[in-house]
Order: sequence, then C-alpha cells, then structure tokens
Amino acid sequence: MSPATSPSPLLMALPKGRLAEQSLALLARAGLSVPQGNGGRKLVLESPDGRMGYVMAKPWDVPTFVEYGAADLGICGLDVLRESGRNVYEPLLLPFGHCRLSLAGPQERAYTPLRYESQPRIATKYPRLTTAFFRQRGINAEVIALSGSVELGPVLGLADLIVDLVETGSTLQANGLVEFRTILESQAVLIVNRAAYRLKSQPIQALIEKLREAIDGTA
Ligand code: PRP
Repeated sequence: MSPATSPSPLLMALPKGRLAEQSLALLARAGLSVPQGNGGRKLVLESPDGRMGYVMAKPWDVPTFVEYGAADLGICGLDVLRESGRNVYEPLLLPFGHCRLSLAGPQERAYTPLRYESQPRIATKYPRLTTAFFRQRGINAEVIALSGSVELGPVLGLADLIVDLVETGSTLQANGLVEFRTILESQAVLIVNRAAYRLKSQPIQALIEKLREAIDGTA
C-alpha cells in the first residue's frame, strides 16, 4: 500500500477461519471495496480501490492488533474479545458467528450442583472466563488450558468438565457430552482502536454507518 497514493487507508484485521467468509460478505454488501481472492499466503491485502487494507490474522490476535493500533479496526467473536480482556471500542454487533460459551460435561454429572463439586478440573480454551465463572461462584476449580479439541478433556479423563463454544451441539453430542449452562452468548463484533476512533473519526464513522445500513437491509 503506497502512502503517496492512499494517504490514510483504514487497516482492518479480519479473523482467518470460521468468521472470514461472512466478514468479507458483509463488507462487500456494505459497498466496501474488498480484496479479490484470498491472496494465497499474503497476510496484508489491499482493497482494489486502495482505501482499505485487510490483515488476515489468527482470530485470537485480532483484539491485540486493534488495541495496540496495529490495525484501526477488526472483526472478532465476543468470546475471543471477552477472553482477551482487550480495551477497544465496540460500536457494532454483527449478525453472524452466533454461538455460546457453555459449561458441559458427561450426562452423569448433569445433576450434581456445581457447589458440590470438589475442586473440579475444567478443560477450556477460555481460562480467563472460566476462572472468573467459578470464582464468582466460590468454587475452587482447576482450570486446564487447551488450545483445541477441548471435548477430549472428559473423554480421556483429563478433566471433569469443559467450557467451550457450542454452535450446533453436534461436537458435544458426538463425544457423549451435554451442555449444563451458558456462560456467554457470542456473535461477531466490530471493534475499533480507541485512538483511531478519534483521529480517523470521519472514515470510521462512515464505515460503521455503511455496515449498519447493510445489516438493517437499507444499503
Ligand atoms: C469449535 C468448538 C467446538 C465446536 C462446536 O471448535 O470449540 O469444538 O466448534 O461446534 P458445534 O456445536 O457446531 O459442534 P473448532 O471447530 O473451532 O475447533 P477446535 O475445537 O479445534 O477449537
């Protein structure tokens, strides 16, 4: 991206994977110029009109890029944002990526009140939210952080329970687990760096308005 031809392009961090396609589809529906193709291994993609740059990032890194101002804006899941604890502006919820962060485990534990659990072991990709959930209830839980396939925890005897995302429920079901309670309702959210929101207020406000119109079906 040449600063000479495009003095102040907005840089947006998009999550690779699950939310990528719907993020790009929403941006296109909002009339924003989006990159054609997936760019192969290229990580920074320029929009055809040169007014936007897109960083294809690991979902868990999007809030970090945005809080530090490495990207002006980003799209991520509320689950990832809350787990990250990053301080960013959240002007707009987006109508995709709906899922929930839930406590789940084997059917036979479904009737044991949580307060009767004696130092349960919980496998999760969300150690911060999980720790807060149990701490708020005065339960001394051992939180075991995993980076994926969390359902393996109870299946292999590593953990008693899990805290993980549930979308259709088919992964839980396939592994003989049931959902006990919802910890957080999640969906995609637009996030903005707080300084950029002030310094690049005009283009950012315009972008938010376009997205809002696309979401409301008035674009
Ligand atoms: C997520 C989540 C569950 C599954 C839930 O995993 O962690 O495992 O999807 O979806 P479902 O309710 O529709 O079955 P993901 O596919 O992101 O992989 P991971 O477990 O390796 O993180």
